Amino acid sequence: MATSITSMNPKDREKFLEELEFPFCDEVNKYEKMAKIGQGTFGEVFKARHKKTKKIVALKKVLMENEKEGFPITALREIRILQLLKHENVVNLIEICRTKVTQLNKFKSTFYLVFDFCEHDLAGLLSNANVKFSLGEIKKVMQQLLNGLYFIHSNKILHRDMKAANVLITKSGVLKLADFGLARAFSLNKNNQPNRYTNRVVTLWYRPPELLLGERNYGPPVDMWGAGCIMAEMWTRSPIMQGNTEQHQLTLICQLCGSIVPEIWPDVEKLELYNKMELPKGQKRKVKERLKPYVKDPYACDLLDKLLTLDPSKRVDADAALNHDFFWTDPMPCELSKMLGQHGQSMFEFLAPPRRAGRPQPHPALPQPKPHPSADSSYQDRVF
Ligand SMILES: Nc1ncnc2c1ncn2[C@@H]1O[C@H](COP(=O)(O)OP(=O)(O)O)[C@@H](O)[C@H]1O
Ligand SMILES: [Mg+2]
Repeated sequence: MATSITSMNPKDREKFLEELEFPFCDEVNKYEKMAKIGQGTFGEVFKARHKKTKKIVALKKVLMENEKEGFPITALREIRILQLLKHENVVNLIEICRTKVTQLNKFKSTFYLVFDFCEHDLAGLLSNANVKFSLGEIKKVMQQLLNGLYFIHSNKILHRDMKAANVLITKSGVLKLADFGLARAFSLNKNNQPNRYTNRVVTLWYRPPELLLGERNYGPPVDMWGAGCIMAEMWTRSPIMQGNTEQHQLTLICQLCGSIVPEIWPDVEKLELYNKMELPKGQKRKVKERLKPYVKDPYACDLLDKLLTLDPSKRVDADAALNHDFFWTDPMPCELSKMLGQHGQSMFEFLAPPRRAGRPQPHPALPQPKPHPSADSSYQDRVF
């Protein structure tokens, strides 16, 4: 009969733990790390190579620092969702790996999510002025992004962290939605009971007005707002609304999309923070007018206008966006592989060079950001 682990003497226990086998969770040392490519809020990401097969992967470390014991619930949620979502336009999770336990790591494994490697992220590409997207190529990016969103929303998953750094692109030009660290399943309101999800989600600059106003019964439109912000960025090359605080973000939204009032957005006054936040009055909607100098194409301006709709119930969904004339008029969406082939180097937000003197001057056509305390070394404050 097997002795219980608690009744073993310390030496035997260490040996037992070190030799313990995890049949569905290989040791991460079957990969060799090549370079660090990402540092998010939730951990480090490395480019790595499988020692035997030479396959290139991305290793995302599971942060355990704040865990008293056990495997973090947030990482479990991310893994469950990634296991469900298998699609050409969603990043592919290959497996979960672990480090061997030793006395050195106090018998605690570090875990890694292992993904198919993608050569670029969209924030890295947009921060490089040598990377030029034609209109047909922008259509291809947006079509794939919306295809990914259509798929995840059809599977009742919200991404909740849409932004350019979470959109990966392979060297052959296939776009993959990534970073499901904040994603969750959603349901349509059961027996008329509204959902009560947390609204502290989505990076501030991509956060839709309903979340800023305290809505907790939200759905897929939160991701469509982010898709609109990313689409505009394809031309402006940096985030279009860079607020410093939630109040400032709402002000920037009103300056671009017009005042938030019940005539435009019925029932908005019922949202928890509607009376607590200062909402600029008398603002005209200027989405098309302000973006036209960059975007030029009228179909693109029209789709942007529909994505950046204040009232989430009127905001275009992924299906309708994919049917928009933007994708079905000349120039048609065109493969990215040829353009990307001209760039030999990987481009990631994390690796983007720090801003230099002589960067492009701010353009008066869009609401301007105030200096952002933590954004001095990435593409984010290279304001057009
Ligand atoms: N499969 C991948 N291939 C290439 N780069 C990746 C991959 N997954 C993540 N990255 C890079 O690492 C960064 C951080 O990963 P992400 O999953 O977004 O974690 P975080 O929660 O830390 O933001 C991404 O912005 C991207 O640059
Ligand atoms: Mg991320």
